[in-house]
Amino acid sequence: MKIVIITPTYNERANIEKMIPVLENDIFPEIKNHTLLLLIVDDKSPDGTADAVRNFMKKWSNIELLTGEKQGLGFAYVRGMKYAMEQMNADAVMEFDADFQHDPHDIPRLIQAIDEGADYVIGSRYVSGGSIPKEWGLDRKFLSVFGSLFTRIAWLNFSIHDTTSGFKLTKTSFLKRVDLDHLLSKNFAYKMQILHDVVKLKAKVKEVPIIFYERENGKSKIHVKDQFESFYVVLRLAVLDRKRFVKFLLVGGTGFVLQFLTIYAFILLGIKQFIAAMIGGEIAILWNFIANNMWTFRDTKLIKEQGSFLKRLVKFNVASLASIGVQGLVVYIAVNIFGEKMKIFGLSLHTSIVILVPAIILLVIPMNYLIYNRVIWKTHHLKSNF
Ligand code: GDD
Ligand code: MN
Repeated sequence: MKIVIITPTYNERANIEKMIPVLENDIFPEIKNHTLLLLIVDDKSPDGTADAVRNFMKKWSNIELLTGEKQGLGFAYVRGMKYAMEQMNADAVMEFDADFQHDPHDIPRLIQAIDEGADYVIGSRYVSGGSIPKEWGLDRKFLSVFGSLFTRIAWLNFSIHDTTSGFKLTKTSFLKRVDLDHLLSKNFAYKMQILHDVVKLKAKVKEVPIIFYERENGKSKIHVKDQFESFYVVLRLAVLDRKRFVKFLLVGGTGFVLQFLTIYAFILLGIKQFIAAMIGGEIAILWNFIANNMWTFRDTKLIKEQGSFLKRLVKFNVASLASIGVQGLVVYIAVNIFGEKMKIFGLSLHTSIVILVPAIILLVIPMNYLIYNRVIWKTHHLKSNF
């Protein structure tokens, strides 16, 4: 594989002068089964970082230099990634800092993870064996730990422990499918979005423990506004992801209203109550099916395995019966345990009413959503979900 190590630099002359010889003399020769190239993305650093790189380029031919205006870390990486994919034909790209906070000696272990089948490797500080600098103040430690926790909760993805690490190795077969031109952030938060997108593309993610060292030379370029921006990007992506779920809830909610209006109308027309209730139930089912089919899940239309409209409608009715069955079962069990009526906040209420509220929220809604996604509309056949 051709692996391009992308290192963005801004005023890192002292660091890059130490880093390039370490990479070329100690690290690259260790990795025998891949071709390693180094791409420095320098934003016209006033300290002459680019000149230092140019000097090394005379000695080693696997180094390239991209220069540009300073427009943020994410912007620099996007430029580097596109160049690596389009001009250098990279099979994988590594995001690697110049300041020795990422230990170059960890590079072979990240590459090994790719050899073992991973598509996206994270140098992780929050898996066993990894760590953040003990010299860090409590505030930075807290932000870092909390940042990862926040992301995991917002995205409902607990399989990844370090969501803000800047040390990554990504197969370009996945990176090519990420829309690098429309990332929400040009700064540090770019990496939250790439992580988010490759996970959605079903990349195999592997976290490799790293010790994240304290910076020795030069200054960090991260600002408080970058932390806020990261929170914003994480939340924004979470909301975009939940769009389908929000539509599903709206359809279900209007269906519920429709059901009661129908029952009431038929009763007014003099139809027997139990028949009115059944008609109301079926109207709600039809409404849910049609609205979800045309709106919530319209993007699944082109999938072949979807089956005909009629087949799905029948399946949908069966699934709805199952959900009624579950509700009946929950009420049956609850009545057996608590009796016909329950005391809640001093009020005596019918057990079915009390129990159905949490049961619908915690059981029926997730269950229906899962069945719709997996059985009726099969969203997992979609290449990606955005
Ligand atoms: N070209 C370019 N342009 N390079 C930049 C820019 C920029 O605008 N901003 C930063 N860099 C370079 C730095 O010169 C350094 O090589 C690397 O990007 C990382 O920047 P630092 O300023 O050292 O970042 P940090 O140490 O605060 O943050 C690191 O750790 C975070 C996790 O705590 C990075 O790896 C982050 O990506 C990571 O989230
Ligand atoms: Mn750093």
